[in-house]
Amino acid sequence: RQTERESLYIALNYAKTFFQENLLQTDEGRGIGLSYFRERGFSDPTLAAFELGYSPDQWDALLTDATKKGYNPTVLSKAGLTIVREESGKTFDRFRGRVMFPIHNVSGRVIAFGARILKADPKAPKYLNSPETDVYHKSQVLYGIFQAKQTIRQEDVCYLTEGYTDVISLHQAGIKNVVASSGTSLTIEQIRLISRFTPNVTILYDGDAAGVKAALRGLDMVLEEGLNVSVVMFPDGDDPDSFVRKVGAEAFKAFIKQNAHDFITFKTDNLLKDAGDNPFKRAEVISEIVGSISRIPDPIKRQVFFQTTARQLKVDEQTLISESNRLIRKQR
Ligand code: GTP
Ligand code: MN
Ligand code: MN
Ligand code: MN
Ligand code: MN
Repeated sequence: RQTERESLYIALNYAKTFFQENLLQTDEGRGIGLSYFRERGFSDPTLAAFELGYSPDQWDALLTDATKKGYNPTVLSKAGLTIVREESGKTFDRFRGRVMFPIHNVSGRVIAFGARILKADPKAPKYLNSPETDVYHKSQVLYGIFQAKQTIRQEDVCYLTEGYTDVISLHQAGIKNVVASSGTSLTIEQIRLISRFTPNVTILYDGDAAGVKAALRGLDMVLEEGLNVSVVMFPDGDDPDSFVRKVGAEAFKAFIKQNAHDFITFKTDNLLKDAGDNPFKRAEVISEIVGSISRIPDPIKRQVFFQTTARQLKVDEQTLISESNRLIRKQR
């Protein structure tokens, strides 16, 4: 098992180099892939730090090169690099004509790829990702953790974004304590990964309705793990990548400072906005928020949140506390 996994790592590392060489040393890669990254403002050190690449627009460029170099076709397909058609038995490259984002584990080994299409196409997904393999379990991975972990420790906070390019642009702007959940809602394994480096998480989600929803989803889980969570929403239509390129690193940091709201306050605000004056809906909001606060393991932090949300919800603090006690009793 161990050696089988090792052979996947070796194949994935080979593929990473193959994609990098194609980006930097072929006419196709330079003309299409490199100019795409340049348009997005990525510098050479950034391309190198994230080991970005390009997959040639052919059915079997990688397969042919890998076979020539002695890689076992079964290993390539187990690593998610090729696809084997069951009917015909034909094998072809999974990633073709896309810019390549290697996904590293916490110790820096390549375990998978994200691959972006170059021109918008309604018939093809914008990003294509490796399938689950023996070395890639999507739910356990945070994009950028290897490049970010040292700075997360130093700064004692982890910025959590949605996408690959958010991580990369912020890193290039000198904000290196950034990871991405890659468009999925946060899992318990990802939260535990962050908490190896810091108890503080600031969520930087896209300034659109989907971003708000994503920020609210799954976050009760984060509270349960005892992490301190804040949320920053970007102006409508912006994500961290577009925003930092628009305003620069200093203004970006200032924006985060001014707009970071702790998660409970953020959630209360959003739910109250939806509830309006409807008393039944407001009552639902209150029990929802009490539910969230009740998950915080530290009783002192819980106490602080009862005080602040009582004011926000315009209800008596004692009401919240008895409702919480009732909930906690019910859970036992
Ligand atoms: P850019 O358009 O390159 O700036 O990407 P983005 O990161 O801003 O993309 P978006 O906000 O639309 O989505 C956030 C993340 O969700 C992406 O970085 C991907 O990880 C993931 N994602 C987006 N679209 C797709 C898709 O079509 N398929 C898959 N599997 N993942 C996607
Ligand atoms: Mn495993
Ligand atoms: Mn989005
Ligand atoms: Mn974007
Ligand atoms: Mn985005």
